[in-house]
Amino acid sequence: MAVLVTGGAGFIGSHTVVELQNAGYEVVVVDNLSNSSPKSLERVQEITGKTVKFYEADILDASALDKVFAENEIDSVIHFAGLKAVGESVQKPWEYYHNNITGSLVLFDVMKKHGVKNIIFSSSATVYGAPAEIPVTERCPKGEITNPYGHTKSMLEQMLMDIQKADPEWNVIILRYFNPIGAHKSGKIGENPNGIPNNLMPYVTQVAVGKLKCLGVFGNDYDTPDGTGVRDYIHVVDLALGHVKSIEKIKENPGLKIYNLGTGTGYSVLDIVKNFEQATGAKVPYEIKPRRAGDIATNYADASLAKEELGWVAERGIKEMCEDAWRWQSSNPNGFEA
Ligand code: NAD
Ligand code: WQD
Repeated sequence: MAVLVTGGAGFIGSHTVVELQNAGYEVVVVDNLSNSSPKSLERVQEITGKTVKFYEADILDASALDKVFAENEIDSVIHFAGLKAVGESVQKPWEYYHNNITGSLVLFDVMKKHGVKNIIFSSSATVYGAPAEIPVTERCPKGEITNPYGHTKSMLEQMLMDIQKADPEWNVIILRYFNPIGAHKSGKIGENPNGIPNNLMPYVTQVAVGKLKCLGVFGNDYDTPDGTGVRDYIHVVDLALGHVKSIEKIKENPGLKIYNLGTGTGYSVLDIVKNFEQATGAKVPYEIKPRRAGDIATNYADASLAKEELGWVAERGIKEMCEDAWRWQSSNPNGFEA
C-alpha cells in the first residue's frame, strides 16, 4: 500500500517524502511543478536511496488523478498541493480559489470514487486570524481571515469536516502548521521561492548569501518584548515527522482530528536575525520598515494535543533551523537551478 503525496515536489512535501521513505512507506507523488522543480525529487532519491514514483499532473485534472489511483494501491493521501502566497492571493483570488478549492474537490471526488477515505490536510495557523488566546490551542475559535489564501484553508477544513460527518468512514487529520523553516541536514533540499521571498527566513538567507541587500523588518512597535513580530518557527523536518506520525494515527480510524504543529516557543524577527548570525557567522543587515498589512503581533502554538495523541514533539531548536536553512541556501544559491 502506498501514500499519495500531492504537492510532494514542494518545500514541505519533499521533506515529508524523505521521512515517509525513511520510515518504510511506499510513496507516490503528484505535482504539477507550478511552484517546484523536478530536481527536488531527484535529490530526495539521493537522500533516501529509494525511488519516488512521480506523476507530473494537476489535481484539477480528474482523469490524471484517476489514473494515479488506478495504477497504485493508495490507502492514504497527504494533501499539500496548493498555492500559498498570501499577498499574491489578494491580487489573484480567482486562481487561488480555483486551484486550492476546486483542485481539492476534484481530489476528494477521485478519492471517493476509488474508496480511499484517509486524508491528511495541510492547514495553517492562519485560520486563527488574530488568535483569541496565546499560546493557541486547537479549541481556539477560527478568527477573521484577511486574505483569500487563508480563506481557502479555512474553507477546505470545513469541507473535510462535512465530508467526514456525512461519511464517518473517512479519517481526516487537519494539521495546522505554524512557521516552517530550515531544511534537510544534507543541504540537498530546501525552500526555493520564486522571485523575492515573502517569508522571513528565505529573505534572511538570501540577504546573507548576497542576493538581496538588506532585510526590511516590518514594524518595531508591536506589543512584543522588542517590538517586532513574534512567531512559532518550526523545523521542516520536525513538521515532516508530524506527517509520519499522522499516517500512523490514521490507521487507528480516528475520524476527525485537528492538530497544531509548532514548537510552542515564539521568536521575534530580531531574535531570528541574531540567532541566524550566531549560528552561521553570516551577516544580515536590516532596516526597520512600516508594518505589513494583515500581520499580527504574536502567534505561537500550544502543541500539547499533538504530543498527547500523536506522540509527536518538535525536537529541533532555532540554532539547528538557522544552520540547516543556511547550509541549503549557501550550497544552492540559485535553489535547484545550477
Ligand atoms: P510549495 O509551494 O513549496 O509546495 C506546494 C506544491 O504544490 C508545489 O510543488 C506546487 O507545484 C504544487 N501544486 C500547486 N498547485 C497544484 C496543483 N493544482 N496540482 C498539483 N500540484 C500543485 O509550498 P509548501 O510550503 O511546501 O506548502 C505545502 C502546503 O502546506 C501548502 O498547502 C501550503 O498552503 C501549506 N502551508 C505552508 C506553510 C508555509 O509557511 N510554507 C504554512 C502553512 C501551511
Ligand atoms: C514572519 C514575521 C513578519 C518578512 C505566513 C503566512 C501563514 C503561513 C506562514 C502558509 C512577521 C516578519 C517577514 C520580511 C519581516 N503560511 N517579516 N520581513 O506572516 O507569520 O505567516 O507564512 O500558510 O499563512 O501568513 O510568516 O515569514 O511572512 O513573517 O519583518 O521580509 O517576519 O512581519 O512578523 P507569517 P512570514
